[in-house]
Amino acid sequence: MTSNSSHPTSSSKILDGKKVASDIRSEVSLKVEQLKKEDKRAPNLAIIIVGDDGASHTYVNGKIKACKAVGFDYTLMHFASTISEDKLLKHVDQLNDDEDIDGFIVQLPLPEHISVEKVTERIKPEKDVDGFTNQNFGSIVSKNPLILPATPFGVMEILRRYDIPLEGKHCVVVGSSRLVGAPLSMMLLEEGRATVTVCNKYTTDLASHTKEADILIVAVGKPNLITKDMVKPGVVIVDVGTTRVEDSSSKTGFKLSGDVDYEAVSEISSYITPVPGGVGPMTIASLLLNTMRAYEQQHLNG
Ligand code: GUN
Repeated sequence: MTSNSSHPTSSSKILDGKKVASDIRSEVSLKVEQLKKEDKRAPNLAIIIVGDDGASHTYVNGKIKACKAVGFDYTLMHFASTISEDKLLKHVDQLNDDEDIDGFIVQLPLPEHISVEKVTERIKPEKDVDGFTNQNFGSIVSKNPLILPATPFGVMEILRRYDIPLEGKHCVVVGSSRLVGAPLSMMLLEEGRATVTVCNKYTTDLASHTKEADILIVAVGKPNLITKDMVKPGVVIVDVGTTRVEDSSSKTGFKLSGDVDYEAVSEISSYITPVPGGVGPMTIASLLLNTMRAYEQQHLNG
């Protein structure tokens, strides 16, 4: 593991999502090469994006780059923000029925006139490689989950690959969203056998909970929500937050900020994910793993 050499006062080791994601890309590439040797086609991921939100296009470009890197085929469908909900649902139906598409995602957010719930629930669970459908959410508690929600899966995978023990540990999850906090809490309980506390915006005295954490996972979207006085020495920190904040020194005019005061907290934590370069690349790696799994389920073992 790399020590945090850029912060000499820090005791933390970096949980390097960029490195782990690169290892996963290599593993997936090998599988694709094997398929090609057997004269089978590569997995094909379709991505629907609606509108011109800059951040969404940046994320989608990252997903396409990852597909190219591992040898997946990809299909990009870009629609104007004025597309009707009905039309979008028809495109979802087409992808559900298209045997050449193994998995697909609808990039969020969607324009306000379109129901995220309706669109998400229309995706066939076996092609839902984001793991957003209610069925895939529920399958976390089944013996043989079909496809796990991508970001929580990425968090579990980075902890697993750094040999961070979960069983019997106190994991505190800050944020109970349908896409991250809620499924992750269930995965920590089910797969990790951890003791789990989930906090949300209604929690009174957040610090009294975060101070108890052996492993603190924060997925809120509020830069610097977690400060050094809110954690105990030796804590493992996973920061899922990615908020664009203005930064005049950057070429793009902004930088990504996590939910944790990285500089200060990393002085006392044992492990910490940076932002960027922590959970973000793991979400894309999970998408690749889920697409490979969807392909295998639909084409190789029926
Ligand atoms: N918007 C922000 N993150 C995600 C993600 O992981 N999947 C999709 N579909 N949309 C997003």
